[in-house]
Amino acid sequence: MGVHLWMLLVAINGVTATYHPRPVTHCRVVDRDANCTHRNLKTIPRELPPGIYKLDLSYNLLENLTQELMSSYTSVHHLNLHSNKIQFIQPGLFKNMTNLQVLDLSRNDLYIIALSKTSVGPLSSVRKLDLIGNGLYTGMTDYFLEDAPALLNLSLEGNSITKITNNTFFRSKSLRNIDLHNNVILEIEGGAFNSMPHLSELDLSMNSITCITDFNLLQLKTLNLSQNSMESFQTRDWDREYELLYLDLRENKMHYFPFLPRRNKLIHLDLSRNLLTGVNTMLTTEQTEFMINDESRFTDYTENVYNNLTKLRYLDLSYNQIKRIPSSFFNNMASLEMLNLSNNCMEAFYIDQDSPLNSLKILDLSFNALQNLSFGENTLQSLEELYLQANSLSVKDSYIFRRLPSIRDLHLQENLLKICDLPPRRQNLEESDCIILSNISTLHYLYLTRNSLQSLPQYAFSGSGLKVLDLSYNAGIKIDKNALVGLETSLTYLSLRGNQLHMLNYDLSCLSCLQNLDVSANNLTALPVWNKESSIESLNLQNNSLITLEYNTVQMLGKTLKKLYLGSNPLSCCNSLRFLQMVQKSTVDIPDIATAMCQYTQDSKHIEINIARLSQKHCATMDQKNVYIIIIIITMSLILVAVLVLLSRICHTRAYRLRGSYKA
Ligand SMILES: *[C@@H]1O[C@H](CO)[C@@H](O)[C@H](O)[C@H]1NC(C)=O
Ligand SMILES: *[C@@H]1O[C@H](CO)[C@@H](O)[C@H](O)[C@H]1NC(C)=O
Ligand SMILES: *[C@@H]1O[C@H](CO)[C@@H](O)[C@H](O)[C@H]1NC(C)=O
Ligand SMILES: *[C@@H]1O[C@H](CO)[C@@H](O)[C@H](O)[C@H]1NC(C)=O
Ligand SMILES: *[C@@H]1O[C@H](CO)[C@@H](O)[C@H](O)[C@H]1NC(C)=O
Ligand SMILES: *[C@@H]1O[C@H](CO)[C@@H](O)[C@H](O)[C@H]1NC(C)=O
Ligand SMILES: *[C@@H]1O[C@H](CO)[C@@H](O)[C@H](O)[C@H]1NC(C)=O
Ligand SMILES: *[C@@H]1O[C@H](CO)[C@@H](O)[C@H](O)[C@H]1NC(C)=O
Ligand SMILES: *[C@@H]1O[C@H](CO)[C@@H](O)[C@H](O)[C@H]1NC(C)=O
Ligand SMILES: *[C@@H]1O[C@H](CO)[C@@H](O)[C@H](O)[C@H]1NC(C)=O
Ligand SMILES: *[C@@H]1O[C@H](CO)[C@@H](O)[C@H](O)[C@H]1NC(C)=O
Ligand SMILES: *[C@@H]1O[C@H](CO)[C@@H](O)[C@H](O)[C@H]1NC(C)=O
Repeated sequence: MGVHLWMLLVAINGVTATYHPRPVTHCRVVDRDANCTHRNLKTIPRELPPGIYKLDLSYNLLENLTQELMSSYTSVHHLNLHSNKIQFIQPGLFKNMTNLQVLDLSRNDLYIIALSKTSVGPLSSVRKLDLIGNGLYTGMTDYFLEDAPALLNLSLEGNSITKITNNTFFRSKSLRNIDLHNNVILEIEGGAFNSMPHLSELDLSMNSITCITDFNLLQLKTLNLSQNSMESFQTRDWDREYELLYLDLRENKMHYFPFLPRRNKLIHLDLSRNLLTGVNTMLTTEQTEFMINDESRFTDYTENVYNNLTKLRYLDLSYNQIKRIPSSFFNNMASLEMLNLSNNCMEAFYIDQDSPLNSLKILDLSFNALQNLSFGENTLQSLEELYLQANSLSVKDSYIFRRLPSIRDLHLQENLLKICDLPPRRQNLEESDCIILSNISTLHYLYLTRNSLQSLPQYAFSGSGLKVLDLSYNAGIKIDKNALVGLETSLTYLSLRGNQLHMLNYDLSCLSCLQNLDVSANNLTALPVWNKESSIESLNLQNNSLITLEYNTVQMLGKTLKKLYLGSNPLSCCNSLRFLQMVQKSTVDIPDIATAMCQYTQDSKHIEINIARLSQKHCATMDQKNVYIIIIIITMSLILVAVLVLLSRICHTRAYRLRGSYKA
């Protein structure tokens, strides 16, 4: 629509003013925005209307930008030259573009300009400059930054810069955000970022930095050092307050916890995928000397070495080699909401009353070697999600999960847990080796996959309001017929996959909200009878020993069923014919239909056929044969009867005659 409008304007202009009424073929103009992307342009189009605000020339073939080309576009605020082949920019080209605020020169060949040692400036009003992917190396940025006094945001991502010197940003005093992601920075000169009093975001991720020895950027809010080779991070040892909120040290080679500012506002600290074996901070040589000289203060000091992280909300320590975390490490972390310790080597984890972590919502301790776990009274009062999968837990304290008043998600897969038999037969549950999962009213999601559970006692989950229950791969589990009592109106998902079940001896039709039932990979020979309305939408019967399926049961389910998995069962075609024909006609989705086969007999051979291709005739042949056999049998019988009757007549007459003759 905009195009038509503009063409009209051109026509009018062509008449009234001495403007060349060329049709706009290159660019799409809407309001004051011109979109000229992907047009194979080798020069900047001249026919655009005056007063353009945004000019997008990305993905073209521009090589040389000269003044003559740009002179009519002084009104442009946003100029996008992304993905061209620019290798020459006439010095002073942008001088008269006094409105230019955003300049995107990403993915060009600007290193050629730098090689020719010509400056691009001035960029007097540019606030955001993108120089991503231009093959620039150390020192080359000078030609772009020399005269850019208004610059706030600069991206140098994806270049080949190896060193940041004191001169690199010396003239760009107003910079707030610098992105140096994906360069090969090995060295940063002391004071290289100190010329910028407002610098608040610095992205140094994906470089080759090995250490920060004297971090002193008080005003910085975000520092991203992920994907470097960082071995240590040391803050200047002073008492100034730092503004730092986000520190990302993910994927480095840190052996020790960073030495963070004493007075900090840090809320997010990512130390995942490093080489930490504990949470001790490495001390500088000065601090170490101090301690060696003053043996008596050693213990005091090491206790305080844990950083003061009162504002911290997010701490990721996953994928390290941490063996032990003293409970006191969390002493000052009253604001912590998320703690990720997954994939470490911890054998025990304790939270005590001195550091209760009562703001913590998510605790991930998965993939460790945990044997012992204990939470003190009145700790973890806000915890909603607890991840404990893949440990070796066999808890000593039966009531441990009941002490978590907000717990909603409990991930207990791949452990060695047992569920207590209730009502309690043993007196001392506090010291037994089983866990109690009933009467935890906040618990909605419970995962107990692969725990070698041998039994599921009655009322195991009563009073919990569980929505999702995963009991898969507990081969041989004995499920009490009252095990699921209490979940009638809450449970929507139940998995009993891979449990070697031969039959389901409890009434699943009581679970009136159950939508998704997975009983695959068992040895079921029959389905439980559903005689009530059900809510089942997805039913997985894959990989069982089902030969026939009760037509009435399936019909009862059919009202709500949307998805049915049937594959890998020894189904009999003709015994389940009614059911299979119903399946063929219905709209129920069978995702594994390719493996859903059934068997029938023809000429005393067992033949397997995909249930989708089954038809009446495969079973009819057998029926007809039966009919023939019956007819033959009946005919034979009739003949036999006739023969017998005939024989008896003959005998009778003969006897009569004999008798007669006798009489006679
Ligand atoms: C410019 O046009 C291209 C198609 O030619 C479209 O993909 C792109 O989104 C447009 N850009 C803007 C900012 O409208
Ligand atoms: C750009 O300038 C270079 C060097 O001055 C020249 O070799 C090249 O042909 C020019 N390219 C175009 C498209 O004008
Ligand atoms: C910039 O503007 C000045 C004064 O308006 C003019 O003399 C000069 O030619 C312009 N330069 C360009 C490159 O358009
Ligand atoms: C520029 O930097 C500021 C401060 O770091 C940031 O909040 C903002 O999103 C950036 N603007 C753009 C357009 O990237
Ligand atoms: C850079 O500046 C810092 C402080 O401003 C100074 O200590 C350092 O020696 C300088 N480095 C070089 C190479 O000039
Ligand atoms: C740090 O940079 C990496 C890589 O670019 C990115 O994935 C991550 O989200 C960044 N971290 C923060 C805290 O912004
Ligand atoms: C911890 O940091 C906070 C905020 O920066 C400060 O108020 C408090 O005094 C510090 N506590 C200790 C023990 O250093
Ligand atoms: C913890 O970290 C691991 C690995 O980095 C990640 O896969 C997992 O999703 C995280 N846990 C949570 C609860 O976010
Ligand atoms: C676990 O607790 C038991 C006794 O409660 C103790 O003997 C054992 O050393 C603890 N294991 C670890 C790794 O702390
Ligand atoms: C669970 O709560 C019910 C009702 O409050 C109570 O009768 C039952 O004894 C409790 N079970 C356990 C094991 O505490
Ligand atoms: C069927 O289940 C058994 C036992 O759980 C398992 O070993 C087998 O791989 C499964 N087969 C298929 C085809 O899923
Ligand atoms: C259960 O079924 C699996 C395959 O589905 C089979 O390998 C296994 O022998 C069966 N077990 C019993 C006890 O029937």
